[in-house]
Amino acid sequence: MNNQAPLWSALWQQADRISFHMPAHRQGRVFSREWIESLTSCDTTELERTGDLAIPSEHVKEAYDLAADYFGAGETWFVTTGTTIAIRVMIASALFEGDVIVMPRAVHMAAVHAVALLGLNPHFVTSANGRRFEDGQPDAESFIAAMRTRPDAKAVYVTCPDYYGRTIDLRMIATEAHRLGMALLVDEAHGAHFAAAPGILPPTALSQGADYVVQSAHKTLPALTPASLLHLSKDGIACGRLCPQRVAAMVRVFQTSSPSFMIAASTDLARAVISREGHAPWQRLAELNRRVVNLLPAYYRRVAPPGSDKSRLVLDYSRLGRGRTEMVAKLDDAGIDAELIDHRRIVLIPAIDQPESDYDILARTLGSIIPSKNDVFTERHVQRLEELENLRDSLFSAPASWQFTPRQALFGNPSYSGRSETMADVADSAKTYCDRATKFASHVIAPYPPGMPIAWPGEGIDDRHDTYIQLLQEANIAVRD
Ligand SMILES: Cc1ncc(COP(=O)(O)O)c(C=O)c1O
Repeated sequence: MNNQAPLWSALWQQADRISFHMPAHRQGRVFSREWIESLTSCDTTELERTGDLAIPSEHVKEAYDLAADYFGAGETWFVTTGTTIAIRVMIASALFEGDVIVMPRAVHMAAVHAVALLGLNPHFVTSANGRRFEDGQPDAESFIAAMRTRPDAKAVYVTCPDYYGRTIDLRMIATEAHRLGMALLVDEAHGAHFAAAPGILPPTALSQGADYVVQSAHKTLPALTPASLLHLSKDGIACGRLCPQRVAAMVRVFQTSSPSFMIAASTDLARAVISREGHAPWQRLAELNRRVVNLLPAYYRRVAPPGSDKSRLVLDYSRLGRGRTEMVAKLDDAGIDAELIDHRRIVLIPAIDQPESDYDILARTLGSIIPSKNDVFTERHVQRLEELENLRDSLFSAPASWQFTPRQALFGNPSYSGRSETMADVADSAKTYCDRATKFASHVIAPYPPGMPIAWPGEGIDDRHDTYIQLLQEANIAVRD
């Protein structure tokens, strides 16, 4: 008999690290003793006394209503199986099989899978002004041009903010969507905290006219993983653009039949905490971020374009002339865990109570990394990164190249769709592409994190995809395929 618990042991040994990543509760250090002690008794089931998270009444409904009121929604659901499932509920509520949805190629893979499952017809946003979409995020003009090209679409889908905290003018998109009779669906997974500090943080999607909004409470609020919120707008309900009964039905289709009261209670409490604390914690984080950037050597550049989330810290380290592997190792040695280190940027997500001392250690660690002394090498390094990004952004911004629909590619019978492989081959990640006259993706192909696809299932694949994947693998970045 083996009484070891290797997963638990490994995680428990990491309990003292400096956490600048989601979930934004710093391994529970942000939680009150009372909440930690109540955790296991909150892990219960649907009893007469506890209520039902899928059929909200009494205290469940009261918690949902308080959240709706705080976030400015007409109706709010707690989804305890993550924003991945909240996205499925949102898309299934707004569209029917075969409907057209306007969206960029670069959306979280949860949205790709929802489109495939539901048999929708995605129309990709391509560049309206010839510019490439940085990190795959289109500008508002390109969204509007795409919506005008497909006025028969039922909905437009936007990710705002993106992983790097950048936002887009949703008001413009909402106005045009409603003029064309479309619903605006927003993946605000990284912006659950925006309602806490208007004026300091970017405006919320709901305040800009979104109809459906999903948020990952665990990403930026003191909530347990994978606490998620699904909001329906007041205006959308009032004018019949969305149907609360359909949303309730879709919650019951996609959510587990054993939703977690512990995670739902943590969502309730996180809302109570941020509502009590007001804008002060976010103002403090914005100031700490500003202060740490001033302490850092000039070769670190903060990435914070106008309108971005100032409570998130994104640092460009490319001028250091050091590779990703070295940066990961240096932070790791100092006991710091960042949310993401890609080939150019470090993304840090602080918790609302992140101690100043964590920032000091971060500044000391980053400041101690010696830049390459060789300017020519650094120039070449930066040039190589730009080439990689140009390739990435051109793949993200390209029009669709369907060989099969996403549903056929993911779920279709291989012989029916003309594939030569068996199901076992398709499941083998080493065989992501099938050899036909033209190769195509049988799964989402996406660097992870943040999990934005360069190719959807069913899209044609060419040498540019292979080159990009190879470059990522050389930079030690995982590719989900
Ligand atoms: C933009 C975006 N949307 C959706 C998700 C999925 O959220 P969850 O992990 O809560 O299921 C993520 C997760 O990283 C994300 O980054």
